[in-house]
Amino acid sequence: MLIAPSILNANNLNLKQEIKKAAGAGITRFHIDIMDGHFVPNLSFGPQLVSDFKREFPLIDAEIHLMSNNPKTLIPEFIKAGADVIEIHYEAMDEENLNYWLDYISSNGVKVGLVLNPTTPVQVIEKFSDQIDQLLLMTVKPGFGGQSFISSSAEKIKEAKDILKKADNKIPIEVDGGIDENTARICKNAGASIFVAGSYIFKKESISEQINKLNEVIK
Ligand code: DX5
Ligand code: ZN
Repeated sequence: MLIAPSILNANNLNLKQEIKKAAGAGITRFHIDIMDGHFVPNLSFGPQLVSDFKREFPLIDAEIHLMSNNPKTLIPEFIKAGADVIEIHYEAMDEENLNYWLDYISSNGVKVGLVLNPTTPVQVIEKFSDQIDQLLLMTVKPGFGGQSFISSSAEKIKEAKDILKKADNKIPIEVDGGIDENTARICKNAGASIFVAGSYIFKKESISEQINKLNEVIK
């Protein structure tokens, strides 16, 4: 079980301190949302943030959630910046490109994840499951932090788990969007093992307290 805090809703002018606090509470991986203003209607971070992050925190993993349909420009830049995991969206490109970029990321020694939007049928993973290190199921429509968890996600996690099991595939299922103590419990019971949480961790009084509470639920 792993918590990967999303820094999207951290205080961006105080990012280093916020990351330090989360790391102090045992976090070993951060989830960095890359939004291009095109695939999703919002803008966030670029490769510079990732290289600064890796310079300051070389032992902590940077997980890049790429919300963009411009892989050609961005993926090589994020690899250069030191990304440890790069996750790309099924909806962002055709299957030929998807195959190409999943392999490209892996062959550069970076872990690779496939991301599915809430409306994308989970069966599409059958074609890609042996090319990926993890599967990210969006539990909100991507683009913004602070949205409500889509309750039908639990069923989808179970379906994904079944598909992977049938293929004798043990890759972890990650969830992202609207994760708090209640929804994390639901997702854990359905089969998720990596939990992205943004506003739950960074929009409250104490970052470490929030992480501790979430850890209690998912352990
Ligand atoms: C949404 C992003 C999420 C977001 C999660 O597009 O992918 O990672 O930051 O934020 P919360 O936990 O606030 O829903
Ligand atoms: Zn994300």
